Amino acid sequence: MQKLILTKPDDWHLHVRNGAILKAVIGHTARQFGRAIIMPNLKPPIITVSQALLYRQEILSALPENSDFEPLMTLYLSSETTAEEIALAAQSDYIHGIKLYPAGATTNSEAGVPDIKQIYPQLAAMEKSGLPLLIHGEVTDPDCDIFDRERVFVDKVLSSIIHDFPGLRIVLEHVTTKEAVEFVKSQSSNLAATITPQHLLYNRNALLAGAIRPHNYCLPVLKREEHRQALLSAATSGDSRFFLGTDSAPHLRSDKESACGCAGCFNAFAALPLYAEAFEHVGALEKLEAFASFYGADFYRLPRNTATIMLEKNPWQVPNSYDNEKTSIIPLKAGEVLNWQLAS
Ligand code: DOR
Ligand code: ZN
Repeated sequence: MQKLILTKPDDWHLHVRNGAILKAVIGHTARQFGRAIIMPNLKPPIITVSQALLYRQEILSALPENSDFEPLMTLYLSSETTAEEIALAAQSDYIHGIKLYPAGATTNSEAGVPDIKQIYPQLAAMEKSGLPLLIHGEVTDPDCDIFDRERVFVDKVLSSIIHDFPGLRIVLEHVTTKEAVEFVKSQSSNLAATITPQHLLYNRNALLAGAIRPHNYCLPVLKREEHRQALLSAATSGDSRFFLGTDSAPHLRSDKESACGCAGCFNAFAALPLYAEAFEHVGALEKLEAFASFYGADFYRLPRNTATIMLEKNPWQVPNSYDNEKTSIIPLKAGEVLNWQLAS
């Protein structure tokens, strides 16, 4: 049996929701990761530091006993966010970024930002304080094809943000296109990007070929194979601007298997085994540790973890569903075999 020992990784982009879903999913992340950047797109969204601190407490209370997992909180950017709130966030030990959702781009983004110019004062305050801006990078123009929305965002919106705020530290979340990868590589180290396991493992055929597979539907939507190849190259390149962010986004089964299904893949149950699978396919397992455990911490100016975890190559079958009395959540690769698992 092959074994892989890694410095304990962190997940730099995670949705855990609240209430019953939070209780159902948080243990999966806490088992594998030391810390995670927690997305604020709840209903209602987490806009203020005091809301984020309450949400943090709810997450801590939902953790398995004796877990030392640390949730790293973020705020949801709105044109109403004040300079005082940004200063408070920047001073807080618990807040690590502010998330920009273009209004209408994805799950619970209605309260997001309709026009980037509206948040220029907030971006100026963030540039000054050093608090990172985390971006869902898709335009929402209804005339823009869903497969082009990230490319157009990078070209039209992200490049002007960087031009106007060169000192702003930015994470372009869940990149999905070769254009986004090229753009990140062309910029300074103020710009970094996270990459999900589903975008490393799948192209858009996994969503649409032969049948529609709602559990492979996430946003930004899966792209063509050439884009997946570009993401794999970036993730395994050793370029510290690309790091792990699962974008695990659990929804109830009934909300996914629907005439109007929600976007989001639940991958947290086996996030590291899924990344290991992707890295192994391209013969780059030795690059996994830095991608998963070093580069994100360095970007966020946090110490790297010191504990280690062990993965072993020991095939197992992914459950068809993770169920309890209150929730039923279908995992990525439900019913399929994964080669890697966390050693107990
Ligand atoms: O697929 C996604 N699901 N993409 C996002 O950007 C949001 C997420 C969610 O919160 O469900
Ligand atoms: Zn997300």
